[in-house]
Amino acid sequence: MRLKDKLAVITAGASGMGRAASLRFAKEGAAVAIVDINETAAIEVANEIKAAGGAAFAIRADLTNAQECRGSIAEAAQRLGGIDIFWAHAGVPGTDVVEDIDLADYEFAMSLNVRSCYLTVGEAVKYIRKRGGGSVILTASISGIVGSQLSPLYSAGKFAVVGLCKSLSLRYGPEQIRVNVICPGLTDTPMLPGFMGRGATAEQAAETQKKFVGMIPLARVAKPEDIANTALFLASDESAYITGVAIPVDGGFTAK
Ligand SMILES: NC(=O)c1ccc[n+]([C@@H]2O[C@H](COP(=O)([O-])OP(=O)(O)OC[C@H]3O[C@@H](n4cnc5c(N)ncnc54)[C@H](O)[C@@H]3O)[C@@H](O)[C@H]2O)c1
Repeated sequence: MRLKDKLAVITAGASGMGRAASLRFAKEGAAVAIVDINETAAIEVANEIKAAGGAAFAIRADLTNAQECRGSIAEAAQRLGGIDIFWAHAGVPGTDVVEDIDLADYEFAMSLNVRSCYLTVGEAVKYIRKRGGGSVILTASISGIVGSQLSPLYSAGKFAVVGLCKSLSLRYGPEQIRVNVICPGLTDTPMLPGFMGRGATAEQAAETQKKFVGMIPLARVAKPEDIANTALFLASDESAYITGVAIPVDGGFTAK
C-alpha cells in the first residue's frame, strides 16, 4: 500500500477528481477526510470507502467562507489525529465577464479559487508540521500555465495558485513539507461543461469541447482517475524529492 496509515484531507472530495482520489487514497491505506459543500455526496463517498474496508468521514464546509476554511481543516485534523497529506482541490469556473464585472462575482470566484487555498493550506501545515513533514497538493489548471480567452478570471486565479505553490514550497521545504500543484486539462467531471462558454447551449458546449479536444495531442479529455493517480504519486513517498512543481496532466495540451 502506497499510503499505509497516512492521514489525508481532500477538499472538493465528493465529486469528480476529488472523489476519485478519495477512493484511491483510501484503497492505498490512508484515512481520508472529505471536505465538501455537498454533504450528502461527501457522505456517500465516505460510505463507499467504508464499505470497501477503508476509513473515511465527511465534513461539510463552504470554502468561500473564511471561517469554514479554517474550521473544517482543524476539525479534520482533530478527527483524523493529525494530517500527513492535504489536497486543496476546490475551485470553480466562475464568471467569464471582464467589462463591468459584478464585484460579487469576482469575489466569489477568487474566494474559492485562491483564498480558500491560502487559508486551508495555512491551517493544514500547522498539523503536518507536528507529524514531521508531509505533502500538500494544490489544483490549478492548464489555465494556470497558459491564458484562457473563455475564462480570464479563472485563469488569473489559477496562475495565482501556481505562484502560491512555488512560494510555499520555499517557505516550508526546510520543515519537510512538500508543496506541488496539479494542472489538469479538460477532465470528464460535472464541472467540464461550465468551461465551454457560459450561457452556451448543450450543443454549443459540445461543439466547443470538440474543438478543444482537437488541440490535445492525446486526443481525449482526462478521466478523473488520471488526475487522482498524479495526486497519489505526489501524496506518496515516491515523490519524496519533488517540491515546488506544477505538473500538467493535460494530454500534452500545453506542450506547444
Ligand atoms: N473538470 C475540469 O475540466 C477541470 C480542469 C482543470 C482544473 N479543474 C479544477 O479541478 C477542481 C475540481 O474540479 P472537478 O472537475 O473535480 O469538479 P466537480 O464538479 O466534479 O467537483 C467539484 C466539487 O467541489 C465542491 N464544491 C463546490 N463549491 C464548493 C465550496 N464553496 N466549498 C466546498 N466545496 C465546494 C462540489 O460540491 C463538488 O463536490 C477545481 O479546482 C477546478 O478548477 C477542473
